[in-house]
Amino acid sequence: MAIPIILDCDPGTDDAFAVLLALASPEIEVLAITVAGGNVGLECTLPNVLALVALAGADVPVYAGADRPLLGAFVNETRVHGVDGLGGVALPAGGEPADGVAADVIRRVLREARRNVTLVGIAPATNLALALITEPALAEKVERIVLMTGAWAEGNATPAAEFNAFNDPEALAVLFACGRPVVLATLELTAQALCTPAHLARFRAAGTGRCMRALCDIQATVPLGPRFAGAGSALHDPCAIAWLIRPELFTTRDCTVTMDLGPGPSRGRTVIDRWRRTGAPFNATVLETLDPDGFFSLLGERLARLP
Ligand code: RIB
Ligand code: CA
Repeated sequence: MAIPIILDCDPGTDDAFAVLLALASPEIEVLAITVAGGNVGLECTLPNVLALVALAGADVPVYAGADRPLLGAFVNETRVHGVDGLGGVALPAGGEPADGVAADVIRRVLREARRNVTLVGIAPATNLALALITEPALAEKVERIVLMTGAWAEGNATPAAEFNAFNDPEALAVLFACGRPVVLATLELTAQALCTPAHLARFRAAGTGRCMRALCDIQATVPLGPRFAGAGSALHDPCAIAWLIRPELFTTRDCTVTMDLGPGPSRGRTVIDRWRRTGAPFNATVLETLDPDGFFSLLGERLARLP
């Protein structure tokens, strides 16, 4: 049985890989894609998702969501994703978004679902939190929440906080408190999915379809920053999807995660305790290691299936 998911995203170059990996994988049934601002504004992330879904020839409804966090405003990351969110790679325009606001649609899908639904969050968690805040009882319809967010140590938005967590830490705190299993792909995990020019060359050789070409063109625009000494860039978001498809590629550790919601320099930090020092119950399963060869083989094989 395919895993029914709602995918919440903010494309975003790495989101593009995650969206297409989900659409290419029969193990996953994408019930809806909801969109937030984040990497770039909602005015770009929404058409980006619509274009990606059309490029894949998929029939999945896309819904607009939050253009700001619960508090304040999103801080974009155009240095990585470009001003349009896809590195300036122009895709053919997609269709129109479906009627409805993301948080309402998430609640409707959960309410009507015959099987519990997995929520996959690869953006600031605003849409997911709004859904669960406004109808908390629906948490019982959530199978689990799989997030690319957080970090054991150094952040990427600030020295303390990972980008999605930093952009809406209150929303992330809501998800940790909702009582449903949370799985985290942190920056330390996604650093093991380091996409190099050699990976892109192998992808281009493996798949000549428009989706693979577009993804390789998009990823080729991502700067190879000093974090990995110019060797590559981390493919963050597809790690969350890959765990659903091939969990055996990962190892995990149960932890207690607490959000820093203060105004100071560590705001948005995911404080991860794996030794029960806080005495609080475990509230997250943190993905610790990834088999990179298996990950990139899966990614290449699945994306090559797309048109
Ligand atoms: O920190 C990486 C995360 O923030 C990824 O989801 C990326 O797309 C950005 O949204
Ligand atoms: Ca993202």
